Amino acid sequence: MSFKPASWPRKLRSQEWYGGTSRDAIYHRGWLKNQGYPNDLFDGRPIIGVLNTWSELTPCNGHLRELAEKVKAGVWEAGGFPVEVPVFSVSENTYRPTAMMFRNLAAMSIEEQIRGQPIDGAVLLVGCDKTTPSLLMAAASTDLPSIIVTGGPMLNGHFRGEQIGSGTHLWRFAEAVKAGEMTQEEFLEAEQSMSRSTGTCNTMGTASTMASVAESLGMALSGNAAIPAVDSRRRVMAQLTGRRIVQMVKDDLKPSDILTKTAFENAIRTVGAIGGSTNAVIHLLAIAGRVGVELTLEDWDRCGRDVPTIVNLLPAGKYLMEEFFYAGGLPVVLKRLGEAGLLHKDALTVSGGAIWDEVKDAMNHNPDVIRPIERALTAQGGIAVLRGNLAPSGAVLKPSAASPQLMTHRGRAVVFEDIDDYKARIEDESLEIDETCVMVMKNCGPKGYPGMAEVGNMGLPPKVLRKGITDMVRISDARMSGTAYGTVVLHVSPEAASGGPLAVVRTGDMIELDVPNRRLHLDIPEAELAARLAAWAPVHERPDSGYAWLHQAHVQGADTGADLDFMKGCRGAPVGRDSH
Ligand code: FES
Repeated sequence: MSFKPASWPRKLRSQEWYGGTSRDAIYHRGWLKNQGYPNDLFDGRPIIGVLNTWSELTPCNGHLRELAEKVKAGVWEAGGFPVEVPVFSVSENTYRPTAMMFRNLAAMSIEEQIRGQPIDGAVLLVGCDKTTPSLLMAAASTDLPSIIVTGGPMLNGHFRGEQIGSGTHLWRFAEAVKAGEMTQEEFLEAEQSMSRSTGTCNTMGTASTMASVAESLGMALSGNAAIPAVDSRRRVMAQLTGRRIVQMVKDDLKPSDILTKTAFENAIRTVGAIGGSTNAVIHLLAIAGRVGVELTLEDWDRCGRDVPTIVNLLPAGKYLMEEFFYAGGLPVVLKRLGEAGLLHKDALTVSGGAIWDEVKDAMNHNPDVIRPIERALTAQGGIAVLRGNLAPSGAVLKPSAASPQLMTHRGRAVVFEDIDDYKARIEDESLEIDETCVMVMKNCGPKGYPGMAEVGNMGLPPKVLRKGITDMVRISDARMSGTAYGTVVLHVSPEAASGGPLAVVRTGDMIELDVPNRRLHLDIPEAELAARLAAWAPVHERPDSGYAWLHQAHVQGADTGADLDFMKGCRGAPVGRDSH
Protein backbone atom coordinates (compact mmCIF):
# COMPACT_ATOMS: atom_id res chain seq x y z
CA MET A 1 0.00 0.00 0.00
CA SER A 2 1.75 3.14 -1.14
CA PHE A 3 -1.03 5.63 -1.75
CA LYS A 4 -0.29 9.31 -1.08
CA PRO A 5 -3.30 11.64 -1.05
CA ALA A 6 -3.18 14.53 -3.52
CA SER A 7 -3.01 18.08 -2.19
CA TRP A 8 -6.26 19.94 -1.65
CA PRO A 9 -7.64 22.38 -2.72
CA ARG A 10 -6.88 22.03 -6.43
CA LYS A 11 -8.81 22.56 -9.65
CA LEU A 12 -11.12 19.66 -10.42
CA ARG A 13 -12.31 18.27 -13.72
CA SER A 14 -15.84 19.68 -13.33
CA GLN A 15 -14.42 23.20 -13.33
CA GLU A 16 -13.66 22.73 -17.03
CA TRP A 17 -17.43 23.01 -17.45
CA TYR A 18 -18.49 25.19 -14.54
CA GLY A 19 -15.51 27.33 -13.55
CA GLY A 20 -14.87 30.91 -14.64
CA THR A 21 -16.87 33.61 -16.39
CA SER A 22 -16.64 32.55 -20.01
CA ARG A 23 -19.70 32.23 -22.20
CA ASP A 24 -19.35 28.44 -22.04
CA ALA A 25 -19.17 28.38 -18.23
CA ILE A 26 -22.27 30.58 -18.01
CA TYR A 27 -24.00 28.28 -20.49
CA HIS A 28 -23.22 25.14 -18.46
CA ARG A 29 -24.07 26.64 -15.07
CA GLY A 30 -27.11 28.47 -16.33
CA TRP A 31 -28.80 25.37 -17.64
CA LEU A 32 -28.08 23.32 -14.52
CA LYS A 33 -29.53 26.10 -12.42
CA ASN A 34 -32.95 25.42 -13.88
CA GLN A 35 -33.12 22.78 -11.14
CA GLY A 36 -32.68 25.41 -8.45
CA TYR A 37 -29.00 25.19 -7.55
CA PRO A 38 -27.48 28.25 -5.85
CA ASN A 39 -24.37 29.85 -7.31
CA ASP A 40 -21.94 28.78 -4.59
CA LEU A 41 -22.34 25.11 -5.52
CA PHE A 42 -20.15 25.83 -8.55
CA ASP A 43 -17.23 27.05 -6.46
CA GLY A 44 -14.95 24.12 -7.22
CA ARG A 45 -16.32 21.58 -4.77
CA PRO A 46 -16.37 17.91 -5.95
CA ILE A 47 -19.30 17.10 -8.21
CA ILE A 48 -20.28 13.52 -7.62
CA GLY A 49 -22.20 11.43 -10.15
CA VAL A 50 -24.53 9.05 -8.37
CA LEU A 51 -24.77 6.48 -11.14
CA ASN A 52 -28.05 4.73 -10.55
CA THR A 53 -29.05 1.41 -12.11
CA TRP A 54 -32.61 1.76 -10.82
CA SER A 55 -35.26 0.44 -13.16
CA GLU A 56 -38.69 -1.02 -12.61
CA LEU A 57 -37.64 -3.78 -14.99
CA THR A 58 -34.56 -4.49 -12.89
CA PRO A 59 -36.56 -5.56 -9.84
CA CYS A 60 -33.44 -6.38 -7.82
CA ASN A 61 -32.52 -2.69 -8.07
CA GLY A 62 -36.07 -1.37 -7.69
CA HIS A 63 -35.29 0.39 -4.40
CA LEU A 64 -32.18 2.24 -5.53
CA ARG A 65 -33.89 5.58 -5.95
CA GLU A 66 -34.50 5.79 -2.20
CA LEU A 67 -30.96 4.64 -1.57
CA ALA A 68 -29.66 7.31 -3.93
CA GLU A 69 -31.22 9.96 -1.68
CA LYS A 70 -29.10 8.67 1.20
CA VAL A 71 -25.97 8.71 -0.95
CA LYS A 72 -26.75 12.29 -1.94
CA ALA A 73 -27.31 13.26 1.71
CA GLY A 74 -23.83 11.92 2.48
CA VAL A 75 -22.28 13.85 -0.43
CA TRP A 76 -23.93 17.09 0.73
CA GLU A 77 -22.77 16.52 4.30
CA ALA A 78 -19.17 16.12 3.16
CA GLY A 79 -19.26 19.32 1.11
CA GLY A 80 -19.79 17.79 -2.33
CA PHE A 81 -22.44 18.42 -4.97
CA PRO A 82 -24.33 15.22 -5.90
CA VAL A 83 -26.02 14.70 -9.26
CA GLU A 84 -28.04 11.55 -9.80
CA VAL A 85 -27.58 10.01 -13.24
CA PRO A 86 -29.63 7.09 -14.57
CA VAL A 87 -27.41 4.56 -16.33
CA PHE A 88 -27.95 1.41 -18.38
CA SER A 89 -29.51 -1.14 -16.05
CA VAL A 90 -29.15 -4.79 -17.04
CA SER A 91 -31.63 -7.06 -15.30
CA GLU A 92 -30.73 -10.70 -14.99
CA ASN A 93 -34.33 -11.81 -15.01
CA THR A 94 -35.75 -9.86 -17.91
CA TYR A 95 -33.18 -9.30 -20.67
CA ARG A 96 -33.24 -11.56 -23.72
CA PRO A 97 -31.47 -13.37 -25.22
CA THR A 98 -29.39 -13.11 -22.03
CA ALA A 99 -28.31 -10.33 -19.68
CA MET A 100 -24.68 -11.23 -20.29
CA MET A 101 -24.87 -10.02 -23.88
CA PHE A 102 -25.59 -6.54 -22.51
CA ARG A 103 -22.95 -6.37 -19.76
CA ASN A 104 -20.44 -5.00 -22.25
CA LEU A 105 -22.94 -2.60 -23.84
CA ALA A 106 -23.76 -1.25 -20.38
CA ALA A 107 -20.08 -0.93 -19.50
CA MET A 108 -19.39 0.88 -22.77
CA SER A 109 -22.28 3.30 -22.43
CA ILE A 110 -21.61 4.03 -18.75
CA GLU A 111 -17.94 4.64 -19.48
CA GLU A 112 -18.97 7.36 -21.92
CA GLN A 113 -21.52 8.75 -19.45
CA ILE A 114 -18.72 9.18 -16.95
CA ARG A 115 -16.21 10.53 -19.45
CA GLY A 116 -18.51 12.89 -21.28
CA GLN A 117 -20.06 14.57 -18.24
CA PRO A 118 -18.86 17.09 -15.66
CA ILE A 119 -18.26 14.80 -12.70
CA ASP A 120 -15.21 14.40 -10.49
CA GLY A 121 -16.10 11.12 -8.87
CA ALA A 122 -18.76 8.44 -9.02
CA VAL A 123 -20.87 6.41 -6.64
CA LEU A 124 -21.87 3.20 -8.37
CA LEU A 125 -25.34 2.19 -7.20
CA VAL A 126 -25.73 -1.42 -8.24
CA GLY A 127 -27.21 -4.75 -7.23
CA CYS A 128 -28.38 -7.25 -9.81
CA ASP A 129 -25.74 -9.57 -11.30
CA LYS A 130 -24.53 -7.61 -14.33
CA THR A 131 -24.93 -4.14 -12.87
CA THR A 132 -21.98 -4.57 -10.51
CA PRO A 133 -19.41 -5.74 -13.09
CA SER A 134 -20.59 -3.37 -15.83
CA LEU A 135 -20.16 -0.32 -13.60
CA LEU A 136 -16.86 -1.59 -12.22
CA MET A 137 -15.63 -2.06 -15.80
CA ALA A 138 -16.68 1.48 -16.70
CA ALA A 139 -15.05 2.88 -13.56
CA ALA A 140 -11.85 0.95 -14.29
CA SER A 141 -11.69 2.28 -17.85
CA THR A 142 -12.28 5.90 -16.88
CA ASP A 143 -10.30 5.84 -13.64
CA LEU A 144 -12.11 8.65 -11.86
CA PRO A 145 -12.45 8.18 -8.08
CA SER A 146 -15.29 5.67 -7.70
CA ILE A 147 -16.95 3.70 -4.94
CA ILE A 148 -19.62 1.03 -4.97
CA VAL A 149 -22.66 0.67 -2.79
CA THR A 150 -24.88 -2.29 -3.51
CA GLY A 151 -28.61 -2.50 -2.91
CA GLY A 152 -28.32 -5.52 -0.61
CA PRO A 153 -30.07 -8.89 -0.66
CA MET A 154 -33.75 -9.67 -0.19
CA LEU A 155 -35.02 -11.09 3.10
CA ASN A 156 -35.18 -14.88 3.41
CA GLY A 157 -37.96 -16.64 1.55
CA HIS A 158 -40.25 -18.94 3.53
CA PHE A 159 -42.43 -21.75 2.19
CA ARG A 160 -44.28 -24.26 4.36
CA GLY A 161 -41.81 -23.97 7.22
CA GLU A 162 -38.73 -24.10 5.01
CA GLN A 163 -36.42 -21.20 4.19
CA ILE A 164 -36.18 -20.87 0.45
CA GLY A 165 -33.44 -19.16 -1.49
CA SER A 166 -33.68 -17.16 -4.69
CA GLY A 167 -32.95 -19.24 -7.74
CA THR A 168 -31.69 -22.32 -5.91
CA HIS A 169 -35.16 -23.37 -4.80
CA LEU A 170 -36.63 -22.44 -8.15
CA TRP A 171 -34.34 -25.00 -9.80
CA ARG A 172 -35.00 -27.54 -7.02
CA PHE A 173 -38.77 -27.18 -7.17
CA ALA A 174 -38.78 -27.40 -10.97
CA GLU A 175 -36.87 -30.70 -10.75
CA ALA A 176 -39.22 -31.91 -7.98
CA VAL A 177 -42.23 -31.24 -10.22
CA LYS A 178 -40.56 -33.17 -13.07
CA ALA A 179 -39.79 -36.04 -10.68
CA GLY A 180 -43.41 -36.11 -9.46
CA GLU A 181 -42.44 -35.07 -5.92
CA MET A 182 -44.22 -31.70 -6.01
CA THR A 183 -47.43 -30.56 -7.67
CA GLN A 184 -47.63 -27.62 -10.05
CA GLU A 185 -50.05 -25.95 -7.58
CA GLU A 186 -47.48 -26.20 -4.80
CA PHE A 187 -44.86 -24.74 -7.12
CA LEU A 188 -47.14 -21.76 -7.85
CA GLU A 189 -47.76 -21.33 -4.13
CA ALA A 190 -44.01 -21.28 -3.52
CA GLU A 191 -43.68 -18.50 -6.08
CA GLN A 192 -45.63 -16.18 -3.76
CA SER A 193 -43.10 -16.58 -0.96
CA MET A 194 -39.81 -16.40 -2.84
CA SER A 195 -39.24 -12.64 -2.91
CA ARG A 196 -40.33 -11.10 0.37
CA SER A 197 -38.69 -7.71 0.00
CA THR A 198 -36.80 -5.49 -2.35
CA GLY A 199 -33.21 -6.46 -3.02
CA THR A 200 -31.03 -8.93 -4.86
CA CYS A 201 -31.08 -12.72 -4.72
CA ASN A 202 -30.69 -13.85 -1.12
CA THR A 203 -28.49 -16.85 -1.89
CA MET A 204 -24.74 -16.67 -2.52
CA GLY A 205 -25.62 -16.23 -6.19
CA THR A 206 -23.89 -13.93 -8.60
CA ALA A 207 -25.23 -10.70 -7.11
CA SER A 208 -24.08 -11.56 -3.58
CA THR A 209 -20.82 -12.90 -4.97
CA MET A 210 -20.15 -9.72 -6.93
CA ALA A 211 -21.07 -7.57 -3.91
CA SER A 212 -18.51 -9.59 -1.92
CA VAL A 213 -16.02 -9.30 -4.78
CA ALA A 214 -16.44 -5.51 -4.82
CA GLU A 215 -15.81 -5.36 -1.08
CA SER A 216 -12.81 -7.69 -1.20
CA LEU A 217 -11.36 -5.73 -4.14
CA GLY A 218 -11.51 -2.70 -1.87
CA MET A 219 -14.07 -0.86 -4.00
CA ALA A 220 -16.81 -0.69 -1.32
CA LEU A 221 -16.83 0.31 2.32
CA SER A 222 -16.18 -2.57 4.69
CA GLY A 223 -19.33 -4.51 5.58
CA ASN A 224 -21.29 -3.40 2.53
CA ALA A 225 -21.94 -6.75 0.86
CA ALA A 226 -24.32 -8.52 3.21
CA ILE A 227 -26.63 -5.87 4.71
CA PRO A 228 -30.20 -6.73 3.67
CA ALA A 229 -31.86 -4.27 1.29
CA VAL A 230 -34.53 -3.26 3.78
CA ASP A 231 -32.31 -3.03 6.86
CA SER A 232 -31.85 0.55 8.07
CA ARG A 233 -28.11 -0.11 8.11
CA ARG A 234 -28.19 -0.38 4.30
CA ARG A 235 -29.29 3.23 4.17
CA VAL A 236 -26.59 4.21 6.65
CA MET A 237 -24.06 2.46 4.39
CA ALA A 238 -25.33 4.48 1.43
CA GLN A 239 -24.98 7.74 3.34
CA LEU A 240 -21.46 6.88 4.55
CA THR A 241 -20.52 6.00 0.98
CA GLY A 242 -21.73 9.41 -0.16
CA ARG A 243 -19.56 11.06 2.47
CA ARG A 244 -16.56 8.95 1.57
CA ILE A 245 -16.51 9.64 -2.19
CA VAL A 246 -16.05 13.37 -1.56
CA GLN A 247 -12.83 12.73 0.34
CA MET A 248 -11.73 10.23 -2.30
CA VAL A 249 -12.01 12.96 -4.92
CA LYS A 250 -10.05 15.39 -2.76
CA ASP A 251 -7.36 12.72 -2.23
CA ASP A 252 -7.55 11.62 -5.90
CA LEU A 253 -7.93 7.98 -4.83
CA LYS A 254 -8.68 6.22 -8.10
CA PRO A 255 -9.69 2.69 -9.18
CA SER A 256 -6.17 2.11 -10.58
CA ASP A 257 -4.76 2.73 -7.08
CA ILE A 258 -7.07 0.09 -5.62
CA LEU A 259 -7.51 -2.47 -8.39
CA THR A 260 -4.02 -3.95 -8.30
CA LYS A 261 -3.04 -7.56 -8.88
CA THR A 262 -3.06 -8.15 -5.12
CA ALA A 263 -6.62 -6.84 -4.88
CA PHE A 264 -7.71 -9.29 -7.59
CA GLU A 265 -5.98 -12.13 -5.76
CA ASN A 266 -7.87 -11.19 -2.60
CA ALA A 267 -11.11 -11.28 -4.57
CA ILE A 268 -10.33 -14.70 -6.09
CA ARG A 269 -9.69 -16.16 -2.64
CA THR A 270 -12.84 -14.52 -1.33
CA VAL A 271 -14.90 -16.23 -4.04
CA GLY A 272 -13.47 -19.56 -2.88
CA ALA A 273 -14.18 -18.84 0.79
CA ILE A 274 -17.78 -17.79 0.19
CA GLY A 275 -18.52 -20.58 -2.32
CA GLY A 276 -19.19 -17.85 -4.85
CA SER A 277 -20.55 -17.91 -8.37
CA THR A 278 -18.54 -19.10 -11.36
CA ASN A 279 -19.71 -15.90 -13.08
CA ALA A 280 -17.18 -14.04 -10.95
CA VAL A 281 -14.43 -15.62 -13.06
CA ILE A 282 -15.59 -13.90 -16.22
CA HIS A 283 -16.37 -10.59 -14.55
CA LEU A 284 -13.07 -10.31 -12.67
CA LEU A 285 -11.10 -11.13 -15.82
CA ALA A 286 -13.02 -8.40 -17.65
CA ILE A 287 -12.54 -5.79 -14.90
CA ALA A 288 -8.82 -6.59 -14.73
CA GLY A 289 -8.62 -6.17 -18.50
CA ARG A 290 -10.15 -2.71 -18.19
CA VAL A 291 -7.68 -1.49 -15.59
CA GLY A 292 -4.71 -3.09 -17.32
CA VAL A 293 -3.95 -5.80 -14.75
CA GLU A 294 -2.70 -9.11 -16.17
CA LEU A 295 -5.14 -11.67 -14.73
CA THR A 296 -5.63 -15.18 -16.14
CA LEU A 297 -7.50 -18.39 -15.51
CA GLU A 298 -4.24 -19.73 -14.07
CA ASP A 299 -4.46 -17.05 -11.36
CA TRP A 300 -7.89 -18.40 -10.47
CA ASP A 301 -6.59 -21.91 -10.06
CA ARG A 302 -3.34 -20.89 -8.34
CA CYS A 303 -4.95 -18.54 -5.82
CA GLY A 304 -8.21 -20.39 -5.32
CA ARG A 305 -7.07 -24.01 -5.20
CA ASP A 306 -6.35 -24.22 -1.47
CA VAL A 307 -9.03 -21.87 -0.23
CA PRO A 308 -11.64 -23.63 1.90
CA THR A 309 -15.28 -22.70 1.50
CA ILE A 310 -16.26 -21.51 4.96
CA VAL A 311 -19.50 -19.65 4.27
CA ASN A 312 -22.40 -22.02 4.70
CA LEU A 313 -24.85 -20.43 2.27
CA LEU A 314 -27.02 -21.79 -0.50
CA PRO A 315 -26.34 -23.04 -3.11
CA ALA A 316 -23.17 -24.67 -1.69
CA GLY A 317 -24.44 -24.77 1.91
CA LYS A 318 -27.54 -24.16 3.99
CA TYR A 319 -28.21 -20.54 5.01
CA LEU A 320 -29.08 -17.28 3.25
CA MET A 321 -27.64 -13.76 3.12
CA GLU A 322 -29.66 -12.58 6.12
CA GLU A 323 -27.89 -15.09 8.35
CA PHE A 324 -24.57 -14.17 6.75
CA PHE A 325 -25.14 -10.55 7.74
CA TYR A 326 -26.17 -11.44 11.29
CA ALA A 327 -23.07 -13.63 11.60
CA GLY A 328 -20.82 -10.70 10.78
CA GLY A 329 -20.70 -10.73 6.98
CA LEU A 330 -17.69 -10.48 4.73
CA PRO A 331 -15.31 -8.80 7.22
CA VAL A 332 -15.32 -12.04 9.23
CA VAL A 333 -14.45 -14.04 6.12
CA LEU A 334 -11.63 -11.65 5.19
CA LYS A 335 -10.32 -11.87 8.74
CA ARG A 336 -10.30 -15.68 8.50
CA LEU A 337 -8.44 -15.49 5.19
CA GLY A 338 -5.94 -13.11 6.73
CA GLU A 339 -5.35 -15.37 9.71
CA ALA A 340 -4.77 -18.28 7.32
CA GLY A 341 -2.23 -16.35 5.27
CA LEU A 342 -4.65 -16.14 2.34
CA LEU A 343 -5.16 -12.37 2.22
CA HIS A 344 -2.87 -9.57 1.06
CA LYS A 345 -3.40 -7.59 4.24
CA ASP A 346 -1.96 -4.34 2.98
CA ALA A 347 -4.23 -4.05 -0.08
CA LEU A 348 -5.61 -0.52 -0.37
CA THR A 349 -9.36 0.11 -0.19
CA VAL A 350 -11.69 3.04 -0.78
CA SER A 351 -11.15 3.90 2.88
CA GLY A 352 -7.64 5.05 2.00
CA GLY A 353 -6.25 2.42 4.38
CA ALA A 354 -5.31 -1.26 4.32
CA ILE A 355 -7.98 -3.94 4.11
CA TRP A 356 -6.64 -5.72 7.19
CA ASP A 357 -7.18 -2.67 9.36
CA GLU A 358 -10.87 -2.82 8.50
CA VAL A 359 -11.44 -6.49 9.22
CA LYS A 360 -8.98 -7.50 11.93
CA ASP A 361 -11.45 -6.85 14.74
CA ALA A 362 -14.47 -8.46 13.03
CA MET A 363 -16.43 -10.87 15.23
CA ASN A 364 -18.16 -14.05 14.15
CA HIS A 365 -21.59 -14.35 15.76
CA ASN A 366 -22.53 -17.69 14.22
CA PRO A 367 -19.81 -20.31 13.60
CA ASP A 368 -22.20 -22.53 11.69
CA VAL A 369 -22.82 -19.80 9.11
CA ILE A 370 -19.18 -18.72 8.86
CA ARG A 371 -17.28 -21.87 9.72
CA PRO A 372 -13.83 -22.18 11.22
CA ILE A 373 -11.40 -23.44 8.59
CA GLU A 374 -11.19 -26.85 10.31
CA ARG A 375 -14.92 -27.30 9.71
CA ALA A 376 -14.98 -25.93 6.14
CA LEU A 377 -17.74 -27.05 3.80
CA THR A 378 -15.17 -27.90 1.13
CA ALA A 379 -11.43 -28.00 1.76
CA GLN A 380 -10.62 -26.84 -1.79
CA GLY A 381 -13.40 -24.40 -2.48
CA GLY A 382 -11.91 -22.22 -5.18
CA ILE A 383 -12.99 -22.42 -8.77
CA ALA A 384 -11.29 -25.38 -10.48
CA VAL A 385 -9.83 -24.56 -13.89
CA LEU A 386 -9.82 -27.60 -16.18
CA ARG A 387 -7.87 -28.15 -19.36
CA GLY A 388 -7.49 -30.91 -21.91
CA ASN A 389 -8.23 -31.62 -25.55
CA LEU A 390 -11.88 -30.73 -24.95
CA ALA A 391 -11.03 -27.33 -23.45
CA PRO A 392 -7.57 -26.24 -24.68
CA SER A 393 -8.14 -22.68 -23.40
CA GLY A 394 -9.80 -23.79 -20.18
CA ALA A 395 -13.11 -24.54 -18.52
CA VAL A 396 -14.31 -24.04 -14.96
CA LEU A 397 -16.13 -26.05 -12.31
CA LYS A 398 -17.27 -25.08 -8.84
CA PRO A 399 -16.22 -27.90 -6.49
CA SER A 400 -18.32 -26.67 -3.57
CA ALA A 401 -21.50 -27.06 -5.68
CA ALA A 402 -20.50 -30.41 -7.23
CA SER A 403 -20.98 -34.03 -6.09
CA PRO A 404 -17.78 -35.52 -4.65
CA GLN A 405 -18.43 -38.91 -6.30
CA LEU A 406 -18.55 -37.29 -9.76
CA MET A 407 -15.33 -35.30 -9.50
CA THR A 408 -13.59 -38.14 -11.28
CA HIS A 409 -15.86 -39.63 -13.90
CA ARG A 410 -15.78 -41.29 -17.32
CA GLY A 411 -19.01 -41.46 -19.27
CA ARG A 412 -20.69 -41.66 -22.65
CA ALA A 413 -21.52 -38.28 -24.16
CA VAL A 414 -25.12 -37.39 -24.91
CA VAL A 415 -24.86 -34.31 -27.10
CA PHE A 416 -27.30 -31.46 -27.59
CA GLU A 417 -26.39 -29.15 -30.47
CA ASP A 418 -27.84 -26.09 -28.75
CA ILE A 419 -30.40 -25.07 -26.12
CA ASP A 420 -33.33 -25.66 -28.48
CA ASP A 421 -32.15 -29.18 -29.20
CA TYR A 422 -31.82 -29.80 -25.46
CA LYS A 423 -35.31 -28.51 -24.74
CA ALA A 424 -36.79 -30.55 -27.59
CA ARG A 425 -35.32 -33.89 -26.48
CA ILE A 426 -34.58 -33.88 -22.76
CA GLU A 427 -38.02 -35.11 -21.73
CA ASP A 428 -38.21 -37.73 -24.46
CA GLU A 429 -38.49 -41.04 -22.65
CA SER A 430 -36.77 -42.78 -25.58
CA LEU A 431 -33.61 -40.66 -25.20
CA GLU A 432 -30.74 -43.07 -24.56
CA ILE A 433 -29.36 -41.64 -21.36
CA ASP A 434 -28.74 -42.72 -17.79
CA GLU A 435 -26.97 -41.23 -14.79
CA THR A 436 -23.54 -42.47 -15.93
CA CYS A 437 -23.71 -40.42 -19.12
CA VAL A 438 -22.14 -36.99 -19.62
CA MET A 439 -24.57 -34.37 -20.91
CA VAL A 440 -22.93 -32.04 -23.45
CA MET A 441 -24.42 -28.84 -24.82
CA LYS A 442 -22.89 -26.71 -27.58
CA ASN A 443 -23.35 -23.21 -28.98
CA CYS A 444 -24.16 -21.41 -25.74
CA GLY A 445 -20.93 -19.42 -25.38
CA PRO A 446 -20.32 -15.66 -25.77
CA LYS A 447 -20.71 -15.80 -29.58
CA GLY A 448 -22.92 -18.84 -29.80
CA TYR A 449 -26.04 -18.00 -27.82
CA PRO A 450 -25.22 -15.09 -28.36
CA GLY A 451 -24.23 -13.74 -24.99
CA MET A 452 -23.41 -16.89 -23.01
CA ALA A 453 -26.63 -17.76 -21.26
CA GLU A 454 -26.95 -19.33 -17.80
CA VAL A 455 -28.07 -22.68 -19.13
CA GLY A 456 -25.05 -24.83 -18.28
CA ASN A 457 -26.81 -26.50 -15.35
CA MET A 458 -29.08 -28.42 -17.71
CA GLY A 459 -31.94 -30.06 -15.84
CA LEU A 460 -31.65 -33.85 -15.73
CA PRO A 461 -33.92 -36.09 -17.82
CA PRO A 462 -37.15 -36.99 -15.96
CA LYS A 463 -36.42 -40.71 -16.17
CA VAL A 464 -33.15 -40.16 -14.28
CA LEU A 465 -34.78 -37.83 -11.75
CA ARG A 466 -37.45 -40.42 -11.00
CA LYS A 467 -34.71 -42.76 -9.79
CA GLY A 468 -33.87 -40.20 -7.13
CA ILE A 469 -30.69 -39.12 -8.95
CA THR A 470 -30.04 -35.39 -8.55
CA ASP A 471 -26.71 -34.85 -10.30
CA MET A 472 -24.90 -35.85 -13.47
CA VAL A 473 -21.78 -34.51 -15.17
CA ARG A 474 -22.76 -31.72 -17.55
CA ILE A 475 -20.41 -29.89 -19.92
CA SER A 476 -21.01 -26.79 -22.03
CA ASP A 477 -19.64 -23.45 -23.16
CA ALA A 478 -22.49 -21.74 -21.27
CA ARG A 479 -22.51 -20.09 -17.84
CA MET A 480 -24.50 -21.21 -14.83
CA SER A 481 -26.55 -19.11 -12.47
CA GLY A 482 -24.70 -18.44 -9.25
CA THR A 483 -27.70 -19.88 -7.46
CA ALA A 484 -27.37 -23.23 -9.25
CA TYR A 485 -25.47 -26.36 -8.29
CA GLY A 486 -24.23 -29.66 -9.65
CA THR A 487 -21.17 -31.23 -11.27
CA VAL A 488 -21.26 -28.75 -14.09
CA VAL A 489 -18.31 -27.92 -16.33
CA LEU A 490 -18.78 -24.43 -17.73
CA HIS A 491 -17.17 -21.80 -19.97
CA VAL A 492 -15.50 -24.44 -22.17
CA SER A 493 -13.07 -22.49 -24.35
CA PRO A 494 -12.73 -22.05 -27.22
CA GLU A 495 -16.50 -22.20 -27.51
CA ALA A 496 -18.33 -24.34 -30.05
CA ALA A 497 -19.41 -21.37 -32.18
CA SER A 498 -15.73 -20.49 -32.63
CA GLY A 499 -14.89 -23.99 -33.76
CA GLY A 500 -13.48 -25.25 -30.46
CA PRO A 501 -13.27 -29.02 -29.89
CA LEU A 502 -16.61 -28.90 -28.07
CA ALA A 503 -18.19 -28.32 -31.49
CA VAL A 504 -17.21 -31.76 -32.74
CA VAL A 505 -18.16 -33.98 -29.79
CA ARG A 506 -20.64 -36.66 -30.85
CA THR A 507 -23.12 -38.73 -28.90
CA GLY A 508 -21.39 -41.94 -27.96
CA ASP A 509 -17.90 -40.44 -27.51
CA MET A 510 -16.35 -41.13 -24.13
CA ILE A 511 -15.42 -38.14 -21.94
CA GLU A 512 -13.17 -38.13 -18.89
CA LEU A 513 -13.52 -35.57 -16.11
CA ASP A 514 -10.73 -35.52 -13.54
CA VAL A 515 -11.13 -32.51 -11.28
CA PRO A 516 -8.27 -33.39 -8.86
CA ASN A 517 -5.91 -33.35 -11.85
CA ARG A 518 -7.77 -30.48 -13.55
CA ARG A 519 -8.32 -32.52 -16.72
CA LEU A 520 -11.15 -32.65 -19.26
CA HIS A 521 -10.54 -35.17 -22.01
CA LEU A 522 -12.42 -36.31 -25.10
CA ASP A 523 -11.32 -39.90 -25.53
CA ILE A 524 -11.03 -40.18 -29.30
CA PRO A 525 -7.85 -40.59 -31.38
CA GLU A 526 -5.97 -37.36 -32.07
CA ALA A 527 -6.24 -37.86 -35.83
CA GLU A 528 -10.01 -38.32 -35.55
CA LEU A 529 -10.32 -35.09 -33.54
CA ALA A 530 -8.20 -33.22 -36.10
CA ALA A 531 -10.30 -34.57 -38.99
CA ARG A 532 -13.56 -33.55 -37.29
CA LEU A 533 -12.21 -30.05 -36.57
CA ALA A 534 -11.06 -29.65 -40.18
CA ALA A 535 -14.55 -30.51 -41.39
CA TRP A 536 -16.34 -28.18 -38.92
CA ALA A 537 -18.49 -25.29 -40.15
CA PRO A 538 -20.62 -22.86 -38.10
CA VAL A 539 -24.17 -24.08 -37.67
CA HIS A 540 -25.90 -20.81 -36.84
CA GLU A 541 -26.30 -17.66 -38.89
CA ARG A 542 -24.59 -14.54 -37.58
CA PRO A 543 -26.60 -11.36 -36.93
CA ASP A 544 -25.92 -8.86 -39.71
CA SER A 545 -26.71 -5.59 -37.93
CA GLY A 546 -27.29 -3.86 -34.64
CA TYR A 547 -25.65 -4.47 -31.29
CA ALA A 548 -25.96 -8.26 -31.68
CA TRP A 549 -23.67 -7.98 -34.72
CA LEU A 550 -21.17 -5.81 -32.85
CA HIS A 551 -21.19 -8.20 -29.92
CA GLN A 552 -20.71 -11.29 -31.99
CA ALA A 553 -18.02 -9.74 -34.16
CA HIS A 554 -15.94 -8.49 -31.24
CA VAL A 555 -16.68 -10.51 -28.12
CA GLN A 556 -13.73 -12.44 -26.76
CA GLY A 557 -13.71 -15.88 -25.21
CA ALA A 558 -14.87 -16.65 -21.69
CA ASP A 559 -11.29 -17.53 -20.78
CA THR A 560 -10.32 -13.86 -21.03
CA GLY A 561 -13.50 -12.31 -19.62
CA ALA A 562 -15.80 -12.13 -22.66
CA ASP A 563 -15.23 -8.41 -23.07
CA LEU A 564 -15.32 -6.69 -26.45
CA ASP A 565 -11.82 -6.72 -27.92
CA PHE A 566 -11.79 -2.96 -28.56
CA MET A 567 -12.94 -2.06 -25.05
CA LYS A 568 -10.00 -3.51 -23.14
CA GLY A 569 -7.75 -1.12 -21.28
CA CYS A 570 -7.97 2.07 -19.24
CA ARG A 571 -8.67 5.11 -21.40
CA GLY A 572 -8.99 7.60 -18.56
CA ALA A 573 -11.41 10.51 -18.48
CA PRO A 574 -9.76 13.35 -20.34
CA VAL A 575 -11.76 16.57 -20.64
CA GLY A 576 -12.74 16.96 -24.28
CA ARG A 577 -13.39 20.08 -26.34
CA ASP A 578 -16.41 22.16 -25.48
CA SER A 579 -19.20 21.87 -28.03
CA HIS A 580 -20.22 25.54 -28.02
FE1 FES B 1 -31.11 -9.90 -9.92
FE2 FES B 1 -30.55 -12.36 -8.81
S1 FES B 1 -31.78 -11.89 -10.56
S2 FES B 1 -29.88 -10.39 -8.24
